[in-house]
Amino acid sequence: MDEEEQVRAYSMADFEEPHSRFVTLFRERFPDETGSAAVLDLGCGAADIAIRFARTYPLARLTALDGAQTMLRFAQHAVAAAGLQERIGLIHQYLPASSWSQSYQVIISNSLLHHLADAATLWTTIREAAAPGAAVFVMDLLRPQSVEAARVMVAQYSADEPPILQRDFYHSLLAAYSLDEVRDQLIAAGLGAFSLEVVSDRHWIASGRMAAAKTR
Ligand SMILES: C[S@@+](CC[C@H](N)C(=O)[O-])C[C@H]1O[C@@H](n2cnc3c(N)ncnc32)[C@H](O)[C@@H]1O
Repeated sequence: MDEEEQVRAYSMADFEEPHSRFVTLFRERFPDETGSAAVLDLGCGAADIAIRFARTYPLARLTALDGAQTMLRFAQHAVAAAGLQERIGLIHQYLPASSWSQSYQVIISNSLLHHLADAATLWTTIREAAAPGAAVFVMDLLRPQSVEAARVMVAQYSADEPPILQRDFYHSLLAAYSLDEVRDQLIAAGLGAFSLEVVSDRHWIASGRMAAAKTR
């Protein structure tokens, strides 16, 4: 996502409900997590979730990563407007990354998986960037049963958004994975112990802790 018009529309869209729910569900899945450690947001987009996360966890220091420079420009403005420059660092990295300069105790990601050419990139990235015992929380869209069902969802949830966003949402729904496919990805990545749950008519969440000692 690097086109100016597309990114502008995305950064201005109303994600209040799914994004605040993202943070609420993280808190429910990891009630003991203080967020005081290093947090990595993969595919941060305009940093809306990173900002919400930082506000919910005042001790958290976040690295928000995205592969699109244009998106990061909007993220930079949003982070500055929120006065969170000291706690949210933005990095430009198109995944997969060849190396990581540090490891993270919390890794979050929303709606990145279906954008990747190879889904394994996300799970490999998580394994490489996570500290032992890290809390991992990934949310993405659930592929609807049919093209018609995808059209109904676009009308239901994005009728008030600009056409470019409606188009993106439609394509994202069709590019999204089924629960069985995500389960297979997790098993293939050695993350089969993660819990995988459907949390709305269009979202699933994979969450769990990395092993205390890293396995390769
Ligand atoms: C649908 S947006 C989600 C943004 C944000 N997580 C949110 O929930 O608002 C997907 C983001 O993933 C980024 N992205 C796609 N492929 C990527 C890759 N290979 N490496 C890093 N970021 C990528 C896009 O630039 C875009 O900002």
